This record gives sequence, C-alpha cells and structure tokens, in this order.
Amino acid sequence: MAFRNAISTKFLSRSSVFGARSMSSWWRSVEPAPKDPILGVTEAFLADPSPDKVNVGVGAYRDDNGKPVVLECVREAERRIAGNLHMEYLPMGGSVKMIEETLKLAYGENSDLIKDKRIAAVQALSGTGACRLFADFQKRFRPDSQIYIPVPTWSNHHNIWRDAQVPQRTYHYYHPESRGLDFASLMDDIKNAPSGSFFLLHACAHNPTGVDPSEEQWREISYQFKAKGHFAFFDMAYQGFASGDPERDAKSIRIFLEDGHLIGIAQSYAKNMGLYGQRVGCLSVLCEDEKQAVSVKSQLQQLARPMYSNPPVHGALIVSNILGDPDLKNLWLKEVKVMADRIIGMRAALRENLEKLGSPLSWEHITDQIGMFCFSGMTPEQVDRLIDQYHIYMTRNGRISMAGVNTGNVKYLANAIHDVTNSG
Ligand code: LMR
Repeated sequence: MAFRNAISTKFLSRSSVFGARSMSSWWRSVEPAPKDPILGVTEAFLADPSPDKVNVGVGAYRDDNGKPVVLECVREAERRIAGNLHMEYLPMGGSVKMIEETLKLAYGENSDLIKDKRIAAVQALSGTGACRLFADFQKRFRPDSQIYIPVPTWSNHHNIWRDAQVPQRTYHYYHPESRGLDFASLMDDIKNAPSGSFFLLHACAHNPTGVDPSEEQWREISYQFKAKGHFAFFDMAYQGFASGDPERDAKSIRIFLEDGHLIGIAQSYAKNMGLYGQRVGCLSVLCEDEKQAVSVKSQLQQLARPMYSNPPVHGALIVSNILGDPDLKNLWLKEVKVMADRIIGMRAALRENLEKLGSPLSWEHITDQIGMFCFSGMTPEQVDRLIDQYHIYMTRNGRISMAGVNTGNVKYLANAIHDVTNSG
C-alpha cells in the first residue's frame, strides 16, 4: 500500500488526482431523460397545488370519491395469508399455483392445452415485465425478426421492444375520422407484412383508443394470420374491463386458439385485481408439445435470472388465494363488474353533460369505446389548455382515463372540454 502511494505521489499531484473535473467526469454526457408520456402526467398532477385538480391521465381505477380501491377479495386474501407467510424465494419461473390459475383465465378453465402441458409460462413483473421478457426471448431466438405494433398503442410498447433491440414496424389500427377501427387498412397491413411476422395485438379494451375489433373481425384477422403464418403476441392488460366479464374479454384469444395458432400472451393483475404496485402477471407461450414447452420455459427463466432472479412472492400469493377459492373468485368477478360498470356509467354521464352544454361536436364515441380509456379526439394544444386553465391532467394524445371520472368531477370535466373544443 505504502509502495503504491509512493508511486502515485511521485507521478501525479494531489490536485490532478482529486480535481473536481476528474471526479465528476463519469456521467457528464448524460442528459435528462424525456418525461414519460403517461407517468409524467401523474408527476405534474401531484405537483399542482390547485384544489380543483383532476387526474384522468394514468389508467388506474378510482372509486366515485376519486380514491384508489383495494378490492374486498384482495383484503380477504390478505387476511388468509397473514401469519401464514414465508419470505422464501419463489422459483425462477414464479408461483406454480398462480400461473396455473392465470392460464385458465386466458386459455379457458378446461383447456386441453393446459392439460397437455403445451404452454410455457412464467410469472412476470406485471404486463410490462411479461412484454419485456417476451421481447428479449424474441430477440434471442428469432434475432432477425421485427415486431408490428398498432398505431396508436400504449406508449411503453415502443420502449419495451426498443430496449430489447427488436426493430419495430407499425400497422394501421385506428381511424381518426370515424373514431373507430380502420379495419380495411389493418387487414391490408397484415396481408402485406412478410410471411411469419410478429404482431403485437391488444386482446381487449385497446389502450389508448378503447376500440376493439368485433368478434367477426377477430375471426377474419385470425384467418389472415393463418394464411400468412404470422405470430400473434397478445397483451391482455385489461381482461374484465372491456365487458365486465373476464371470460368474454378473452374471446379474441379463444378465436386464435380455435384456429390452431401458436400464440404468446402477456397477462396482468394490475387493473382487474387492482394489484398495480404488486407487479404480478404472467408470460405464456403456446408450444407444439410438452417437450418444446419445457425448453421454452427454461429459456424464459434463464432470461429472468440475470435480470431479477425470481419474481416477488406477495402478489402471487394474493392472486392464487383468490382464484384458487371458488367463493373468493366469485367475489372477484363481481368486483371486476362493479369497476367496469362504474366506468360505463361515467362514459354516459360525460357524453350527456357535453351534449347538454350544446356542444356542436359529436361525442358518441365516448359511449361507443370500451375499457378504461376514451380517445377523445382532443388535440395536444387543447389538452395543454385543460391543464393550464382547468388543472385537468391527461396524456397529450387526448386519452381520458375514464377510471378517474366520477359524479363529483364529471360536470367540471365536461365544461372544460366543451370550452377548449369550442374556442380558440
Ligand atoms: C396506462 O396506460 O396508463 C397504464 O397502463 C399505466 C402505465 O404504466 O402506463
């Protein structure tokens, strides 16, 4: 040690060793990251001292008093877990029980695919983690592939496949003039994509548009996927929020399964169980047979190991306690419906208030669209005015999280929307 000190003092002066410049040089080129288009809205909302402020930005359910909700089924599961809780690691692939119950929701209670063990599935860090794990898997085993993403989509989809270094292409989805699905262009894009392309599909309650294909359209999409040999990866973040019934909301996936596709699915309990911060979800990949499923699962685990080793235990315990008990599962199904119905009610109230104000614009799409979001059609400038003048916070693409609308703020929101869409 003394020898090393002697060397360094001989060749370098103290000021050059400890100079402020050399000490701060590691991260000098790092610029601040741009604000997240969704979570940045929450930050701005929290920083606003106005008593009138309204947050219809992030897709997180609130009750009619604007308060976050812990479902009764979750509270009961927590009571059952308490005292019975261990803090051991889960296996790399997560909770076997949670995965078993989660697959039933997507593939069907009595699915032969589950019985035949053809599904490679791992617990994931909610829907985001499931998408990211799949994107990394895609990159590792189909390194030359790209992903087709709908326009528009949840902004984080772009980040996920970008960071996994999978090139992105887009496909038509929304038709701004009709505020509905651009089905003809969507089908053209599916037909024109190179055979064997990867497509990201929203299984239900499309985020941000609230526009889903009809059952008949899903059948046509599935048929065309088969003809082109495309791979469908479903992000199902809102199962239950489209119709109020998780079983009905899995229809798109069931159609693809009936047609014999090998698909991938990202599932999340953030929204439909209100387990936002617990980060509990599942990635599944349907394989040709059990042997392939074993290989795929082992590779998914190997991707997870250096990233987060194994997933968190608590949320998985909550989910498996609820879905593994028929009474608690029924309670959950009722509570999902209550949440979905409250949102449907708020859609009607928002439209009614806008119409009562004599808005010359059509607001039919508020009640036509489904799920947690209304894609209002407002411009980024109109959204800026809502924030500046009314302290109403939403994403700049005009997406309203209907989960943040309640009987106490719907009139205020309608007045403000009426003002910014009819002036300036
Ligand atoms: C949203 O779209 O608002 C949610 O999915 C929350 C998020 O993480 O962006």
